[in-house]
Amino acid sequence: MNSPLALLGGEPVIRQPGQHFSWPPITEQSKKAVVEQLGENISIYDRSGVVAELEDALANYFGVKHAVSMSSGTAALHAAYAACLIEPGDEVIVPAYTFFATATPLLHLGAIPVLADCDETGNISVTEVASKITPNTVAIVATHMWGIPANLPALRALANEHHLILLEDGSHAHGASLDGQKVGSFGQAAAFSMNGPKPLSAGEGGFVLTSDDDTYFRLLLFAHYNKRCRSEIPSSHTLHRFAVTGMGLKFRIHPLAAAFALDQLTHLDEYLAGRAQVAALLCNELKEVAGISVPQLPSKHQAAWYGLPLTYVPDELGGITVERFHKALLAEGLSEVDRPDSTCPLNQLPLFQCPAALFTHQREFARLRYQPGGFPVAELVHHNTLKLPVWHREEDVPLARAYVRGIQKVVEHHHDLKG
Ligand SMILES: Cc1ncc(COP(=O)(O)O)c(C=O)c1O
Repeated sequence: MNSPLALLGGEPVIRQPGQHFSWPPITEQSKKAVVEQLGENISIYDRSGVVAELEDALANYFGVKHAVSMSSGTAALHAAYAACLIEPGDEVIVPAYTFFATATPLLHLGAIPVLADCDETGNISVTEVASKITPNTVAIVATHMWGIPANLPALRALANEHHLILLEDGSHAHGASLDGQKVGSFGQAAAFSMNGPKPLSAGEGGFVLTSDDDTYFRLLLFAHYNKRCRSEIPSSHTLHRFAVTGMGLKFRIHPLAAAFALDQLTHLDEYLAGRAQVAALLCNELKEVAGISVPQLPSKHQAAWYGLPLTYVPDELGGITVERFHKALLAEGLSEVDRPDSTCPLNQLPLFQCPAALFTHQREFARLRYQPGGFPVAELVHHNTLKLPVWHREEDVPLARAYVRGIQKVVEHHHDLKG
């Protein structure tokens, strides 16, 4: 620790080259699952084979009646919104701080994403949501940022009070829970991404959870036309006559991705337990470090630790900017410390500042003009977030500890960063 900062010519804390974190774990068993699927079927039109196995396993894992696999999280969100009958002009309250795909499918449905600021946890603020409800509001969406559960009981109470639909974007939070109830099971539907680095990965893929039969049939109609709709929507149901075409979109998961995800799912709890241990270690070691604030969860909440969002507090380090602090960490060899980029307050993105320029047929969008500065908490949280990877294996603990040492070193020498 006595060495000068690496940014100023000293020895870096970590010299280990290459990537320090990779996800998902690809085992011999995962490879075998994919190769076996290649020999079995690489195009599945109905709910059979590995698609049925994956959906049964997901429904069972999350404690819901139905899981519908999709080609991506974006597709899952799109299908979930359509299946909940969100229509042109409807207002849907979404987090200002989330990945943009939480909100973009609403634009495609002609609905109005009403952004609500977050609280200091980075998750949507219940007070802000309450203040955005109007007679045109139909739904509230929560994202569990970086795997930390949003305040679903309070959001559900608010939704019930105002007769609104509660929806979840669980893309960061597979397996996270509140008082033993898994996120994804709190509202009418929940959409998840299974894209590359997600806690449950298919490489590319997604799924929607619901316990409501009609929502399930509409998910199929929206995204899984023909054979699947014909065999699953009862002939007595009013929607059955549309089964051949559905709504004309095909958002099926690839069977190879389904096989990979199914294998990953069998290890999810073990991976999450490993991550929980490493997250606890990191938080414990960093909680007294000046300039760094660690997430604090209520005791009965379990996070999925998609990442560990640390909040940088410049006032505790003589006003050194987060940009300079981050640069110093990278120079110490902490190459995985990330300042999230595309996951940002949506009002900072041109699409949300001027959606009418791209959605030229949507007259209603002329009034959507989000601007920088509109969501001060989200903007501050985002600006000061330094995200660490959360490893899951015992053998990665020394690396996690080296990251702690690197942060401690930069904090101890922060005076040298002035000027
Ligand atoms: C919160 C959130 N929602 C939705 C998505 C979109 O998922 P996909 O990339 O699978 O379409 C992502 C992906 O990063 C995400 O982080």
